Amino acid sequence: MTKTSNKENIPAIFIIFGGTGDLTKRKIIPALYNLFLDNQLPEKFAIIGTGRSTLTDTKYQNALLEGINEFSRTGKADKEKWSTFSANITYQIANIKDAAEYKEFGKKIESLKKEWKQIPSVTYYCAVSPNFFCTIAENINKSKIENDPETTRIIIEKPFGRDLESARDLNARLLTIFNENQIYRIDHYLGKEVVQNVMAFRFANSIMEPLWNRNHIEHVQISVTEQIGVEARGDYFDKAGILRDMIQNHLMQLLCIITMEPPINFEADEVRDRKVDVLKAVQKILPGTVDTMSARGQYGPGWVQGKEVLGYREEEDVDANSNTETYAALKFYIDNWRWQGVPFYFRTGKRLFKSASAITIQFKEVPHNIFNKGEGNVPKQNRLVISIQPDMAISFQLQSKTPGLDMSLNTVDMVFDYAGKTKVDSPEAYETLLLDIISGDQTLFMRADQVETAWEVIMPVLEYWEKNRMSNFPNYPADSWGPENAEALIAKDGFHWFNLPEKNKRTDG
Ligand code: BG6
Repeated sequence: MTKTSNKENIPAIFIIFGGTGDLTKRKIIPALYNLFLDNQLPEKFAIIGTGRSTLTDTKYQNALLEGINEFSRTGKADKEKWSTFSANITYQIANIKDAAEYKEFGKKIESLKKEWKQIPSVTYYCAVSPNFFCTIAENINKSKIENDPETTRIIIEKPFGRDLESARDLNARLLTIFNENQIYRIDHYLGKEVVQNVMAFRFANSIMEPLWNRNHIEHVQISVTEQIGVEARGDYFDKAGILRDMIQNHLMQLLCIITMEPPINFEADEVRDRKVDVLKAVQKILPGTVDTMSARGQYGPGWVQGKEVLGYREEEDVDANSNTETYAALKFYIDNWRWQGVPFYFRTGKRLFKSASAITIQFKEVPHNIFNKGEGNVPKQNRLVISIQPDMAISFQLQSKTPGLDMSLNTVDMVFDYAGKTKVDSPEAYETLLLDIISGDQTLFMRADQVETAWEVIMPVLEYWEKNRMSNFPNYPADSWGPENAEALIAKDGFHWFNLPEKNKRTDG
């Protein structure tokens, strides 16, 4: 991917709707600040935060500084660097529902153009509740502020719709105002370092491709587990559930990266075409089979690291009788030549024993064991573990001879451990994604058809779960590995959920 921003040095304007919100403070501004520290922002740039409160520029900048000090991967801000960076930040009070108030943005853009004597790129960032995505797009249009298809972009955060129909509607409405190549639908998992490395791992190593199919792979597990509960997001989460919050987007995108066919090149549309192909090949889960292909759970109260925690139904803004799932496990098949018959298991949930994201690829058994069948001499299956977080590593479990007089076998790891091998601190997902937006590179962003196809895949489960209440919710305690029915889902195929990777520990559980 060619990152052009710094080389071409085209000035950039960011207008952040939701400029006083949590996402801006925790992710967007720290990411822009770190890009600035790495000399990745153009020389001339302006960040205009917008919200409903009355704030001076200085007050706004100070609030953002607190966010950097608390959340930036590079730690507390350097005084001088922050002062240079923050001189480019201004605040604009605005009611996003009122098109007339957008004129102020237009005036600011025009005045910056005059001052810089150059045409800047303009990025509208919708860091707001999804109810406002269309309102913002429509008001940009109505107020006739900058929307040159060559230089203007709009960033849409997730969730993109709450089902297939609403996602289609949102796409249709956005596409009457912006071209597809102006729309950047964010899935921050695609910006994670290890996730990007899967592309290099699969397509820059000739030894991978011959193994990467149903002839050699037995099954695949994609796990994204979290220790945290719903925190302060009860209102949003209770209407969404983990299927919408995590599976429709993050886990589906991980599935695409693992299973897509090799693209012809690394152009955004070529890569995204291959992802859509595989989503289209996911076998449809029929309404009558939802119970055999999935398991859901909701957390009850418990103890986490010596602290008592609430059950989901007792959390703020959550219905005391809620049927919303905070855990989901699913099994998918992909109907194509490469993957026919290989099961893919997903699991994700809140308030679990550990926070970890990993993709585990289990290879088939050796066709014939030539060693004595004694204890410890049956070769274990090879396993490739792609650990996305908290530690970034890719490890291959192989069988080897235990040193000594006997021929006995032992599992050894070949590990690419980022911490040991790379000197540079890996950028946060939002840094990668924002830099790509500045450069106009859409490879890591979801295209309209990709989002809609991902919704199509989960719709039967979503509809079935909404119609059929679980009588035994809550069905897993905090600090556990989730509900028993999720163990049963995988156990009936003769497999078990693997231990999730821990730094410097083997994961052959
Ligand atoms: C978000 C979800 O998209 O991803 C959250 O809305 C979840 O519920 C988060 O906690 C997980 O992201 P990460 O990067 O912490 O794994």
